[in-house]
Amino acid sequence: MLRRLHKDQPETFAFTSANQKWADAQITKYPAGRQASAIIPLLWRAQEQTGWLTRPAIEQVCAMLDLAYIRGLEVASFYFMFQLQPVGSVAHIQVCGTLSCMICGAEDLIGICRDKIAGKAHALSADGQFSWEEVECLGSCANAPMAQIGKDYYEDLTAARFTEILDELAAGQVPVPGPQNGRYAAEPLKGLTTLQDYDSGKTQYNASVQLAVDLGDTIKRIDGTEIPLLTPWLGKVVPAKKKAAPKAKPAVAKAASKPDAAATGKKPRTMTAPRKSGADDLKLISGVGPKLETVLNGLGFWHFDQVAKWTTAEIAWVDSNLKFKGRIERDDWMAQAAKLAKA
Ligand code: FES
Repeated sequence: MLRRLHKDQPETFAFTSANQKWADAQITKYPAGRQASAIIPLLWRAQEQTGWLTRPAIEQVCAMLDLAYIRGLEVASFYFMFQLQPVGSVAHIQVCGTLSCMICGAEDLIGICRDKIAGKAHALSADGQFSWEEVECLGSCANAPMAQIGKDYYEDLTAARFTEILDELAAGQVPVPGPQNGRYAAEPLKGLTTLQDYDSGKTQYNASVQLAVDLGDTIKRIDGTEIPLLTPWLGKVVPAKKKAAPKAKPAVAKAASKPDAAATGKKPRTMTAPRKSGADDLKLISGVGPKLETVLNGLGFWHFDQVAKWTTAEIAWVDSNLKFKGRIERDDWMAQAAKLAKA
């Protein structure tokens, strides 16, 4: 299947502040120089936030990780879990069409999607509430046929029950996921034949379904406020507040990486520290992420007006000190910085 960016894209993307905090924390999981490894969770979070993965979102994530945009696009277009086109505002239905499900009635489910949602996969329903696609085995073959809706599995489906589920979702309800034929999990249809003493009834539903019901977020879009920010590794490494003040200075000093002696072009005027008013947030320049900002600070650039004045020869010098050449002109940092300086 050809996977391309959708023709209609929003102008911008920004994580919600909670999601931004979450994303920044994820990046700290990886050792220095390996932050790119955070690309999948960050892209996934961006998709969770908007329902699908937009071009500005991919670019934003790449900027945060100091990656060339093409690297982000490669990841986003390779993995089918990333939706590159708008999905239904209520739910995107993923019907398994692999062997077990196909034998047990997946074609009927797909037929219902065509009738009730849209004739073609990945198209929106007339009211924009639903979209659907056929996917490969989702690993729930013992409960075939099944579909993933939002974050959860709806299993042991019949055409009639699947139709009801779509109607319930359209009516604003969230049907309980899991087996839809009364089974607890994936035990034999006629009941357990072994481990009969096992008390499976400790919770009303099996573990996955119970968690889904308890969280109540099967089809909810994540904006970052519903999940606590779990960063135990940060707590262990930095005793946050006590050391915050003394750490501030070394952080700047650390940023003072030496310019490349072999750099071509003309070195612009640089500064050894930001002005008393404090450094500008260079990350406001599209294409500059936290890592690149640190490199720029290290080279002696702290303010928008410095960047705005770079000449072609000076761009060449900065360019040869950065990891990804050509980025400055492609994103027109000078024009962006001039605007930001004015603001
Ligand atoms: S074949 Fe459908 S879940 Fe495996």
